[in-house]
Amino acid sequence: NAVELGEFDHYMQKEIFEQPQALSNTLEMLSGAGQLQPGIFGAEAETIFQHVDSVLIIACGTSSYAGMTAKYWIEQVAGIPCNVEIASEYRYRQSVANPRQLVVVISQSGETADTLAALHYAKEKGHTYTLAICNVPESAIVRETALRFITRAGPEIGVASTKAFTTQLSALFLLTLLLAKIKSNLPQEDEKAYLDELRHLPVAVEKVLALEPNIKIWAQYFANKQHALFLGRGRHYPIAQEGALKLKEISYIHAEAYPAGELKHGPLALVDQEMPVVVIAPNDELLEKLKSNMQEVSARGGQLYVFADGDSSVKNSAGMQVMQMPEHYGLLSPVLHVVALQLLAYHVALVKGTDVDKPRNLAKSVTVE
Ligand code: G6P
Repeated sequence: NAVELGEFDHYMQKEIFEQPQALSNTLEMLSGAGQLQPGIFGAEAETIFQHVDSVLIIACGTSSYAGMTAKYWIEQVAGIPCNVEIASEYRYRQSVANPRQLVVVISQSGETADTLAALHYAKEKGHTYTLAICNVPESAIVRETALRFITRAGPEIGVASTKAFTTQLSALFLLTLLLAKIKSNLPQEDEKAYLDELRHLPVAVEKVLALEPNIKIWAQYFANKQHALFLGRGRHYPIAQEGALKLKEISYIHAEAYPAGELKHGPLALVDQEMPVVVIAPNDELLEKLKSNMQEVSARGGQLYVFADGDSSVKNSAGMQVMQMPEHYGLLSPVLHVVALQLLAYHVALVKGTDVDKPRNLAKSVTVE
């Protein structure tokens, strides 16, 4: 392969560790700039953003979870409605098109058949405000949208997407900020604060990567399990989904994600000592709610593995192991938490001895239906 593995055992591991660099490359335009310019999404971006009244994100797989995370950001920060659709559903569904909606297609490869077909379908329905967020500049999807943003993750070889996902998130956060400036007069000091957080992201991710030895220890507890549950709330619910997807894809352990508040409506029935429950527990406005969800799991003998922020008061106790994330990171916290979950899936797969970079039955890019 043209891309060398270097000191790493697998492409997936290499790509997980490349994330600080991939993020700083993708966010390069921030290095000199005090203010964000819509032009980073294309020459017509400013005009189009002025006209749009809502956002429709369309994607498959991991890219769709980037979109779901962005929904929380866009509605909270930019104050305009945002919906997310799975491409294979959207393309075959009779939906009501709103020509003032910004259609955002997200794709690492830019070649996924369902995403491309969904874009065609959106255009047939009269959507002209289209934006592609892709990692491959010459790809089919990029050639067909009015606007584009190319993430600079570099070639991603591992079938399970890692650095493409976090760079997609950084691009979506830039989009959120631009929409917030244009649609809801984001105050300049807020913009500056968000841009500082984005600039600091590579360093913050680096610190999460340093947790690898501890995550490796946790991986041992998962390798002999049949099932795992991932819980998150708010903008970390899509991260729970992505964490479950990573584990499924490469370790073949059945994993399911739930928004923690839904536990009592079904999955609690599955919880017993054989069910590890991973909890994404950032120190945010939902932490207290999440703690009572964790209580519900503990009371049934479930084993909790909690990723908590350094400054939150969740501590190790019987049936509950806690890993402290290095920083509390506000709106961008999903970017940090997902890195820990990528490492967890990777190390569980290593213990199980699966083909990490080429998991069975899966393809890197699904170009046929
Ligand atoms: C395949 C890959 C996934 C990826 C998905 C969407 O299923 O294995 O890693 O998330 O396709 O791919 P895209 O290139 O459109 O982001």
